[in-house]
Amino acid sequence: MNRPDVDRSRLRIAALSVTGLLGLAVLVFLTIPVSPPGYDSTTEALIRALHQKLLAVALVLGIAVEAALFYAAVRFHGNDDPEPTSENRRLEVGLTVGVAIVLLFVGVSSYFVLADPMVSTSEAADPRPGSVHVNVTGQNWFWMFSYPGENVTTRNLLVLPANRTVFLSITSTDVVHSVFIPGLGVKQDAIPGRVNGYRTHLTDTGRYRLYCAEYCGAGHSKMIATVEVVSGDEYRAWLRRHRGKPPERIEPPSSGSSYSTGRRDSSTGR
Ligand code: CUA
Repeated sequence: MNRPDVDRSRLRIAALSVTGLLGLAVLVFLTIPVSPPGYDSTTEALIRALHQKLLAVALVLGIAVEAALFYAAVRFHGNDDPEPTSENRRLEVGLTVGVAIVLLFVGVSSYFVLADPMVSTSEAADPRPGSVHVNVTGQNWFWMFSYPGENVTTRNLLVLPANRTVFLSITSTDVVHSVFIPGLGVKQDAIPGRVNGYRTHLTDTGRYRLYCAEYCGAGHSKMIATVEVVSGDEYRAWLRRHRGKPPERIEPPSSGSSYSTGRRDSSTGR
């Protein structure tokens, strides 16, 4: 084989592997569900779906860049006198349009998640009728939860029903705290003198940890509450049992001590 033949066969191998890699990337993209099932709240599902979509796009772009690099290295490696590309209108327009499409995709898909009422709530203190309403107050260094109209107030324990829309009115009495329930995709600041709303819809029962996600002083790391999501019947029975009781005498609906991670195991459906 003479030199051009060797180069051509190398080029063919490079082109084949690049095509294979790109094909694989497209396949991965197609198998990713738009709204992945198996999350314990609609908020978490929305955020995860966006993350997966953006990850898939980044994967395809990453492979394309690596492929271009690989191609250039193989194609031009024996060139002792390289000529830079001057004026190439097609290349410039193509690159600009390509980048614009990617940015548009990222912007539009992010906007639809951010604008979703389950992620960004415009109403601060007025839940829609029919949703379960809880006032959440952070203070140094614990959480208080009160259920308007129910005469129930708890300390470091938030009980919520599954399959109902939940509305939290979040505030603070002293410094800035932040409600963070990783298992449910919920995060909202608790700011003194201001009420922040948060709406979500819980799709499964379980037990989760609520952390303070804003450094608020010496007791910050101890500002942890338990969130229990129970069936609608259990929720009503729990409220009835604790009406008028002081917060320290309120017990969680279940006696278990294990926590859910938020993502159900596909093998057991939980
Ligand atoms: Cu409250 Cu950190």
